Amino acid sequence: MNVLVIHGPNLNMLGIREKSVYGEKSFEDINDLIIEEGNKLHINIEIYQSNIEGEIINKIHEAYGNKDAIVINPAAFTHYSYAIRDAIGSVNIPTIEVHLSNIHKREEFRTKSVTAPVCIGQISGFGYNSYLLALRSLKMTKNS
Ligand code: DQA
Repeated sequence: MNVLVIHGPNLNMLGIREKSVYGEKSFEDINDLIIEEGNKLHINIEIYQSNIEGEIINKIHEAYGNKDAIVINPAAFTHYSYAIRDAIGSVNIPTIEVHLSNIHKREEFRTKSVTAPVCIGQISGFGYNSYLLALRSLKMTKNS
């Protein structure tokens, strides 16, 4: 199983950025944990991060025909990028949306996700474990 993990804008600043909200672990630490979980689950992981909407869209398009699933944290784009939503909707690849924080108990503008409706589901609020849970649930979905 080949899975693309996409991190949206400002997630490269994890470990520095608003630690009380997003945790102490650095972006690199979290990526190591994602790769480790992938190894345990026999999932090949490719990790991609961009702060640029169009680059994320291009990456989603590239996944067409090459990846079995996508795990995406669209970060702030979650709340307003119809273009990323349409990209996910275009490629016909099962996608899980993840968030480190629980977006439903934060500011009002964060409670709305325009991308979640084109995903299998959303995992929000478990810190970096949201990514690991997404990988596990992909495996469960595949085997069910
Ligand atoms: C986030 C939540 C978003 O509202 C925010 O813009 C982010 C990170 C999260 O993982 O909790 O950048 O996606």
